[in-house]
Amino acid sequence: MTHALELRNVRAGYGRIEVLHGVNIDVPRGSVVALLGRNGMGKTTTLRAISGTIPVNSGQILLDDRRIDGRRASAIAARGLVLVPEGRGIFPGMTVRDNLAIAHRSGGKQAGAWDDFAANVTGAFPVLGERMDQPSGLLSGGEQQMLAVSRALAGDPSVLMFDELSMGLAPIIVDQLMERVGALRAEGRTIVLVEQYLTHALKLADVCYVLAKGQVTWVGEPGELKHMPSAASYLSA
Ligand SMILES: Nc1ncnc2c1ncn2[C@@H]1O[C@H](COP(=O)(O)OP(=O)(O)OP(=O)(O)O)[C@@H](O)[C@H]1O
Ligand SMILES: [Mg+2]
Repeated sequence: MTHALELRNVRAGYGRIEVLHGVNIDVPRGSVVALLGRNGMGKTTTLRAISGTIPVNSGQILLDDRRIDGRRASAIAARGLVLVPEGRGIFPGMTVRDNLAIAHRSGGKQAGAWDDFAANVTGAFPVLGERMDQPSGLLSGGEQQMLAVSRALAGDPSVLMFDELSMGLAPIIVDQLMERVGALRAEGRTIVLVEQYLTHALKLADVCYVLAKGQVTWVGEPGELKHMPSAASYLSA
């Protein structure tokens, strides 16, 4: 099986504090991989290391079989990997349209024509079409997440990573977002979903990794998760 993304014995952290103590993860191309674990176990740190937001101290990260560890975040994004961070990373004082326009511009040639991009966004999330001229900070949490997902797509990425996509959102909104994630996989994109609880992602994930104290402690398919000791704590929502 070919991998879109591979982490080999990755150590990373903040300054002298090491948080990831040798993380190994394989993300098959075109799959949805869920990264689970309780608070503070290193999920966000893993995504930051992959996206180049924090440096990797040792080990390797490969995107399409090419090393990306040690590269700048902008260079990694240009190679087709984007992170939608916790907190969504949108500009709250700017309108929905301007948020999309900035993403479109930074997507460069890959972003295609603005009209096509905008039509894609509003086709997937009609509510954003109705809110184009509102400050994005006034959107509901779910709408902000839809905007963040739409912005991430501007550069036509091959790998998308979402940090707590479902956090604090009503189930019906989460279903809508997960449906979109499923559609992105159907387009052949590779997805990494970080969730504290798997309930919403269960239907989508092909493989689950559980992180504890900066190490992978369990790998398997979502259906096997119930056999894992203390699985209940990951499945309650
Ligand atoms: N900017 C930072 N500087 C120093 N330490 C940090 C920083 N961000 C996170 N940490 C520490 O790194 C460890 C892992 O945090 P991380 O954010 O990766 O956890 P997480 O699994 O994403 O948790 P959560 O479910 O709460 O989002 C924690 O001990 C945290 O305190
Ligand atoms: Mg986190």
